[in-house]
Amino acid sequence: MEPNGKRPEDHRSIWLRTTDTPDFSGTVFNAAYEVIIVGGGIAGISLAYELRKMGKGVLLLEALEVLQGVTGYTTGKLTAQHGLIYSKLVSQAGVDHAGRYYEAQSWAVREVERRAQEWGVDCDIVEASANIFSTVEQFDSSMEIEADTYAQLDIPGALSHELKVPFATRRVLTMLHQRHFHPRKFLLEMLNQALAAGVDVMSRNRVHKIEEEDGACFVETDAGRIKAGFVAVTSHYPVHDSGLFVAKLTPTRSYAAAFEMTEGAVEQMYISHSEEPLRSWRPGVVDGQPVLIVGSTHHKVGEAPVVGDAYAELELWARTMLPVGERIAAWSTQDLWTPDHVPFIGASPGRGRIGIATGFGGWGMTNGIVSGKILADLFHDIPNEWAPVFDPKRMNFEMVVPMVKENFATAKHLIGDKLAAVPEIDPGRLSPGHGQVGQYQGKRCAVSKAEDGTLKALDPSCTHMGCQVSWNALEHTWDCPCHGSRFGADGQVIHGPATLPLKNLFDQ
Ligand code: FES
Repeated sequence: MEPNGKRPEDHRSIWLRTTDTPDFSGTVFNAAYEVIIVGGGIAGISLAYELRKMGKGVLLLEALEVLQGVTGYTTGKLTAQHGLIYSKLVSQAGVDHAGRYYEAQSWAVREVERRAQEWGVDCDIVEASANIFSTVEQFDSSMEIEADTYAQLDIPGALSHELKVPFATRRVLTMLHQRHFHPRKFLLEMLNQALAAGVDVMSRNRVHKIEEEDGACFVETDAGRIKAGFVAVTSHYPVHDSGLFVAKLTPTRSYAAAFEMTEGAVEQMYISHSEEPLRSWRPGVVDGQPVLIVGSTHHKVGEAPVVGDAYAELELWARTMLPVGERIAAWSTQDLWTPDHVPFIGASPGRGRIGIATGFGGWGMTNGIVSGKILADLFHDIPNEWAPVFDPKRMNFEMVVPMVKENFATAKHLIGDKLAAVPEIDPGRLSPGHGQVGQYQGKRCAVSKAEDGTLKALDPSCTHMGCQVSWNALEHTWDCPCHGSRFGADGQVIHGPATLPLKNLFDQ
């Protein structure tokens, strides 16, 4: 990772490689706005678009560059098929609840296409079925129950047994009429629409704190304090934490690559059910070239990948199983999962003037668009029939066990990692491009060596809540296992919830 959170050229997604990023770092902002949106990804830009009629009353703030965070590193599937979510929602809260989730997601799928047509933007959007498949007997019944739920909810689809792939599948559940697209081509145009209506956008301005006082919000940023009637926090991990989100969000990393597609064109989208490592692929045409985008492997942030080099493992599997040619791009991304796998979108618990959108799991493309609509309705006091499904204040039985497990794991990292003995670092034995937490010059340090041989020693305590960071050898970053903050080798924040860099101890 390069300084200031920029990814090395060879780990930029295909979406970043084929579009330019506008520079909003020099924006002059007003002292006060009706709404401030924190986070320039799909949810923030969707909300800015929904609020565009308020024009100059809206400011969107981004800590780094717009559409270069998680949104820029998606696989670009636009689908309402989110694992086996529907049978789970029916058993938790009933058919009506599950039906509203489906309605919201399928509205987002249609809405992207409708807006793209209205604006005349070519965002490579293509209709395709989405398929979830299982390969072991253990999942037969859950796949069948989900298929029955599709019928109950009138979701167009079918259950079958075989995929045309060189490995055996037991159940394949298809959802018809989904889409895939080039997310940045679409979202950059949506951003243009908001800008044209007078919305202000400022990048390279990190938010550190949000306070409510005397019927208004005050947002503390690198560039100063700004007043707002309402604030929407769409920054992936919330900057503020009024809802115990540290106990409710689990951060994971996953990997993807785009390949030239060779003979035997793939026409649909696929994802494995619960088998490890995860397998996912979908076709696409990017700038006239047929491509296959392949995803693989989930692991918690800050914990070693299940395989040594996730990119190499992904490529080997793709070459064995799928019609792929040359690799065009490879990238990684970060997802946040709620305990019941339904995002938190709505009023932030205990904060009347702050809205929140987070916890999209791997399904940010539809959930981001849905967030814009729900939060816009919230700020305009318009009833929204989908909102109860995503209510950030909800607490159900399904959430308790994962939360207890998550808290236990965090406590273990917070206390156990810091008490554990660490090795003495011998700089001569540290290879260029590597890092290690250990004792160095009498201090516990996070030490990394740059390609030119210079050493950087940082305080290994994460600036969020103090857990010990660990070196991510694949991405050359310092990652925190507690809530997923990530820092460049220079200590700068790449992913929150941390907002401050790791403390520099010394350079050599
Ligand atoms: Fe919370 Fe590091 S302690 S992200």
